[in-house]
Order: sequence, then C-alpha cells, then structure tokens
Amino acid sequence: MLDLMSKIISLSKRRGFVFQSSEIYGGFGSCYDFGPLGVEMKNNIKKAWWEEMTKKHEKIVGLDAAILMSPKVWQASGHLTAGFADELVECKKCHHRFRKDFLEKEKCPDCGGELTPPRKFNLMMKTFVGPVEDEAATTYLRAETCQGIYLNFLNVLNSSRLKIPFGIAQIGKAFRNEITPGNFIYRTREFEQMELQWFCHPQGADRFFEYWKETRMKWYLDLGIKKENLRFREVPKEELAHYAIRAVDIEYKFPFGWKEIEGVHNRGDWDLSNHSKHSGQDLKYFDEEGEENKLSSSPFAKARETKKKYFPYIIETSAGADRSFLTFLINAYCEVKGGRTKTTKAVKEEEVVLRLDKKLAPIKVAVLPLVKNKPELVKKAKEVYGLLKPHFVCQYDELGSIGRRYRRGDEIAIILAVTVDFQTLKDNTVTLRDRDTMQQIRIEISELHNIIQKILEGEKFLKFGKLIK
Ligand code: GAP
Repeated sequence: MLDLMSKIISLSKRRGFVFQSSEIYGGFGSCYDFGPLGVEMKNNIKKAWWEEMTKKHEKIVGLDAAILMSPKVWQASGHLTAGFADELVECKKCHHRFRKDFLEKEKCPDCGGELTPPRKFNLMMKTFVGPVEDEAATTYLRAETCQGIYLNFLNVLNSSRLKIPFGIAQIGKAFRNEITPGNFIYRTREFEQMELQWFCHPQGADRFFEYWKETRMKWYLDLGIKKENLRFREVPKEELAHYAIRAVDIEYKFPFGWKEIEGVHNRGDWDLSNHSKHSGQDLKYFDEEGEENKLSSSPFAKARETKKKYFPYIIETSAGADRSFLTFLINAYCEVKGGRTKTTKAVKEEEVVLRLDKKLAPIKVAVLPLVKNKPELVKKAKEVYGLLKPHFVCQYDELGSIGRRYRRGDEIAIILAVTVDFQTLKDNTVTLRDRDTMQQIRIEISELHNIIQKILEGEKFLKFGKLIK
C-alpha cells in the first residue's frame, strides 16, 4: 500500500500537481508548492467547500482575516500556555504527543513506537513585526485560522443582520512548527485550513454538533470519497485540545493508516469568554427577541433561544485543504490493466486514470486534432480550442498518437476529450470522449459548449449522442 504513496508523489511531480518547496536548494523542511494542475485542483476543492458553506446555508457568511494578529490573541486563546509550551515527546510512528513528565516508559503508550527526545515545544511560529527584533515586536503566524473569526465576532454581528445561530466561514493559511511532519502533504508546517465557526445557544450545541458532523461527512461522500475509507473517531477526553469540550475526527484510510482529515469540535464558550477577559470587550450575545428560530430544517427549528445575555457556544468544523487534496488524489487514483485504447500498439500497457469528481478535476476538456501533420485538422482543432477556452479549463494537445494523448489526459483526470478528425472537415462534427467509460459520441461543434456544460453539471453523457462503436 505504501507503494501507492510513491506513485502519488511521483505522479504529482511528473504532471505538475505538487513540487517540493525550494527544490533547487535541496528542498525545505516539509513545505510544498502546488504546480499548474495542483493549484487548479486545490482551488476547486476550496471552491466546493466555500459554495457548500456560504451558498447552501443562508446563515453563513465569509471572512478573510489577517494571518498576523496581536500576540495577545495567542495568550487569550491558550496557544502560548495550555499544553503547547510543555516538554513534549512525539511518537515517530503514530505522531501522538505526550507530556514527558506524564510518561512511565520510553516508548509510545499508544503504539509502542520510538519517541523523539523531549523538547520545550511550542507549535507557534514566531516572527517579528517592525524593524526591531525584541520581545515587544514578537508575534506569531496563526496556528489555526479560526482565531481571526472570534476577533471579528462583534464586527460581523454588528455589520450584518445575523442572529444566533449563525456561522462564519474562512479559508486561509495556518502555520505550525510540527515536530515530525511527513507523509508528503499530509502533515506540513505551512498548510491551509477551511474552517466554519458556528455560533449557537449552549442548549443547541449538542444538536448542532451532530448536524455538522453528518453534514461534513456527506461533503466528502458527495465528492466521491469511497464510503468504506471514511469513518468518525470520537476523540477521547485525554486527547482533547485545550479548547474542546468534545471532538470527533473525520478519518480517511490512507496507505499509512487511518488518519484525521477534519475535526469537528464543540469549543463551548472557551474562545469568546477568554477573548472577552483578555481584551476587556464584552463578547456576549444579547438575544433581544428570545424567539424561536424560524429556519425550518431540523435541527434548527428546535433551537429555542432565551432572552438574555450569554456567551454563544461554538461548533467548529476544521478541514485541511492540503489534506483534502491528498485524500481526493489517493481516492481517485486507479490503475487499469490491459490498456483502455484499441487504437495504439500499447494495448497491454497499464494505464493510470485519475477518477476525480467533475468539480475537482483541474482540467475539464482536452482538444485534440486526430493527427498533427494535417494543417487543416490542426487549424480546426485550434478554432475549437479557442471556442471552449473562455468557458472551461481546457488543454490543447497534438503530440503523439491519439491513444497516447487520451491516456495522458486520463492520468490527470481530464473529464472530456474533443477530437477533431477528417469528418469534422466535412460536417463540423467532433467526437466527444468520456474519461471514465471511454465512450464516444459524435456531436456538432455548435452544440459543444452547451453539452459540455451539462455533462459537467452531472447530466448523463449518452443523453447527447449515439455511442460510436
Ligand atoms: N481550529 C481547530 C484546529 O485547527 P486541528 O485538528 O488542529 O483543529 C484541523 O486542525 C485540520 O487542519 C486537521 O484535520 C487537518 O486537516 C488540518 N491540519 C492541521 N495540522 C496540519 C498540518 N500540520 N499539516 C496539514 N494539515 C493540517
């Protein structure tokens, strides 16, 4: 199974999904760059998350807070104190961390793995703001994006007409000085989070926790992650982060084991009450109307609010964009033995097909002249490419046999291939090929845009033409 990771890493580099950061200088500790295909795919993941949160839910708004914040934020949040600044050892195998002073043996209590030497370790990345590098100028790169949301709780409340329960969604970079990063982009020191903070009455918190847990699991399933490779894990009390009352991880079965891809947390009033205390600002919510929430769908309908001031509870869903990226890539990777094209000599070759969801595939359409040494075919294919390019992420490819080009496209998840052949020159029709079934239909160029659009939106491929045998 670990072999699969080598294949994913090699494909990522070879085809331009992910590169090692600072590679020409020998690489830089667990940082990665997203290449031309990687950036498209990662943007698609973020877009799918953003649309799910802000378009589907009328009570969720977005935010883009600064990475740098007052160092006081991290005092209040507990990141500079609670647990984070202790002597820690980390298991090299399962990556669980332990307070050195809590350990009885020199082995990992969870899996028996070897432990790193103890270190006073704070995950926060220190930096200096301004020209003088002293204590007064010290701040930190954010270790979780959500703190910017809590700081803007009042701003959002006062500038919008939102009433509790409501949510604030944010996507952005976070930084952690991980002791043992690894497994490619699974655990890195710079990564992106997609976080929702859902503010609700304490009495509604348990119900909303269940709601968000299920809703987030469904998101992965809807985007094609295989059900048997996903599960919930209730985080035991002793492993809970300092801010959490309850946490459930969504885990994926990676080649290196079941691992967290997203955390759903009940943070109680930890954040708002601590920021209130440290900032001197009253971050309590006053429910003027004390009326029953009008949203019809369960569990919202039952969320009765009370007519008094209180610190809202926060239910958080925190997903990693990079971890999701790796999850989608691994989930989509298939090797099809025996070849999938009859048109090439390489019938017996093993072909890689990346069966990414239509929404996530970095390139949607390939435009291919049947052969490249016929100028009239090339000219026509370029015309078709020009027609589609403003509407879809497209690729023009004329190098190599048509079968080889189909395979190159399958390997990077291109959903549809448009082939311009000799018949095109006679009747302005082209063949359209579907990545997953390899089925081909013949359609008019004038209908291409419309049909591609509909197929990408989920309509059945064969609805638009007869199968070419
Ligand atoms: N605000 C809550 C929070 O940050 P977390 O469980 O520490 O919770 C949430 O992180 C998610 O962020 C994880 O499930 C993972 O997807 C992502 N993440 C955390 N640390 C990461 C790292 N070092 N590299 C890549 N992704 C990471």
